[in-house]
Amino acid sequence: MASSVLSIKKVLKLACNEAGEIIKKSFGSIKKISSKGKNDWVTTQDKKVEKHIIDTIKKYYPDSSFIAEESGASPKSSRIQWIIDPIDGTNNFIHDYPFFCTSIGVQVDGELNYGAIYDPLRKEFFYAEKGLGAFLNNKRIKTSQVDNLEEALLCTGFITSKKHYAKKNIDNFQKLLFKCRSIRRDGSAALDLAYVACGRLDGFWELGLNSWDTAAGVLLVKEAGGVIGNSKGKTFDILKNKSLIASNKHIFNDLMSNVQSKIL
Ligand code: IPD
Ligand code: CA
Ligand code: CA
Repeated sequence: MASSVLSIKKVLKLACNEAGEIIKKSFGSIKKISSKGKNDWVTTQDKKVEKHIIDTIKKYYPDSSFIAEESGASPKSSRIQWIIDPIDGTNNFIHDYPFFCTSIGVQVDGELNYGAIYDPLRKEFFYAEKGLGAFLNNKRIKTSQVDNLEEALLCTGFITSKKHYAKKNIDNFQKLLFKCRSIRRDGSAALDLAYVACGRLDGFWELGLNSWDTAAGVLLVKEAGGVIGNSKGKTFDILKNKSLIASNKHIFNDLMSNVQSKIL
């Protein structure tokens, strides 16, 4: 590992803050949008922010590898791997719907050790470090105490670029809707996970996610005392699994038994 003047935590904070400044500059104005595939949109800001984050990280940790949504995976593997979603909630961002974030998870020697999620509009910096807990703007956060589905506020997502996941999840949505207090569909999986970590949501699930959507949020929820699993309720692998269930420890089994997906 390269010796560096800045800790990984400080680099995460710096990269997130810089990303937030770029994102905020174009919030409220027309964005240049292009298509990555059917129902899959990207703005010039997604690419600009991602490049900026990677450049900042490389300044302090030149010997790093990356999995980043817009530029892909770097060929060389090194001990530190940064998993980056520059703007999670691009559709919200395009529409100036104020719910999106930057998400960065960090694996060291294959272990998910750090996670940062930053909401630039609310200036909320969610941070987790393995074994040290989860924090919102430096204050310790915990998952909620709600212990039954009936009182739970849940959230989900539908990835419309992958119809089979979205369609399958409509069944889950329908099943859960009348079993819980209510369900949100906020449009930023990473920020949804941060909200589970700090107890604003009691649970979140989605089918068809990628590592850049989940890396930071998975660590946040775990370090806040919550539970994460794949659609079979087993250990969630950020690089292999696509279907994720996250909640406080009380409602996990109940939530999981209502989420069906053949694909893990
Ligand atoms: C998407 C958001 C959305 C979720 C999709 C993701 P993006 O990420 O997290 O909430 O439903 O599955 O792909 O494209 O905005 O980075
Ligand atoms: Ca995303
Ligand atoms: Ca994104």
